[in-house]
Amino acid sequence: MQLLTNKWALITGSSRGIGQQIALGLAQRQCNLIIHGRQESSLSATRALLSAYEVQIHAVWGDLGDPAGVQAVIEGAQAAPGPVDILYNNAAIQNEYKPIWEITPEEWQYTFQINLWAMIALCNALAPGMRARGFGRIINLSSGIQDVPNLAPYSVSKAAVDKYSRDLAAELKGSNVLVNYLDPGWLTTDLGGPHAMFGVETVLPGALVPALLEDYGPSGRLFAAQDFKYLG
Ligand SMILES: NC(=O)c1ccc[n+]([C@@H]2O[C@H](COP(=O)([O-])OP(=O)(O)OC[C@H]3O[C@@H](n4cnc5c(N)ncnc54)[C@H](OP(=O)(O)O)[C@@H]3O)[C@@H](O)[C@H]2O)c1
Repeated sequence: MQLLTNKWALITGSSRGIGQQIALGLAQRQCNLIIHGRQESSLSATRALLSAYEVQIHAVWGDLGDPAGVQAVIEGAQAAPGPVDILYNNAAIQNEYKPIWEITPEEWQYTFQINLWAMIALCNALAPGMRARGFGRIINLSSGIQDVPNLAPYSVSKAAVDKYSRDLAAELKGSNVLVNYLDPGWLTTDLGGPHAMFGVETVLPGALVPALLEDYGPSGRLFAAQDFKYLG
């Protein structure tokens, strides 16, 4: 098994759902973890799950819907015992399901703040250090959502995540900081709901593939976690 010993990964939104699974999968590969939720108290389930693994855990918390919260997460991550080698921008929200005409500018803005602006701030803060060290893996959570206008702020923010990831990959070309975006599949989480197609555990091992890429490997690409579920 390919290991990530001595690497540090920050996974935003790792208190539950897909982010928690990614944290678990990385711990199984001996990666040290910076776990994140909105509040410290959100993180107890993930801490308990990870206690079975001999990896270092550093916790950060902050509301990504608020620029001050984003800054707290950045500063908390920079205070970890090691630099961030792997960044999963996983935390996101869906807007309230309603007719597209009735979605307010404030709802668009709030969804973009968490799903896109916070991601960009984290990349701005952490990618230059990765480039200076000659190693980085940035994985931005995307979505395969199609033709659901009632969730347009969510789906448009994810389209922007894809484009932003390709632009950042171009900026970092040749640096061994690989930037990719990940479609986890439709999964039974609080966000995905109880009628989703797949269990949350099926995000592994595929979600780890962009973190395990060889040096100077593919960047600016879409990875679909469900393509790899039969490997697990
Ligand atoms: N589930 C699916 O079917 C599906 C499909 C396609 C893409 N995705 C993407 O996969 C990622 C994870 O989704 P999920 O289904 O695991 O979601 P989830 O179960 O709702 O978990 C969301 C995570 O994000 C955190 N979070 C939410 N709002 C936040 C805020 N304002 N500030 C900071 N953290 C916040 C939560 O922390 P707290 O616990 O502290 O609230 C939690 O850890 C998202 O990017 C989502 O768009 C999911």
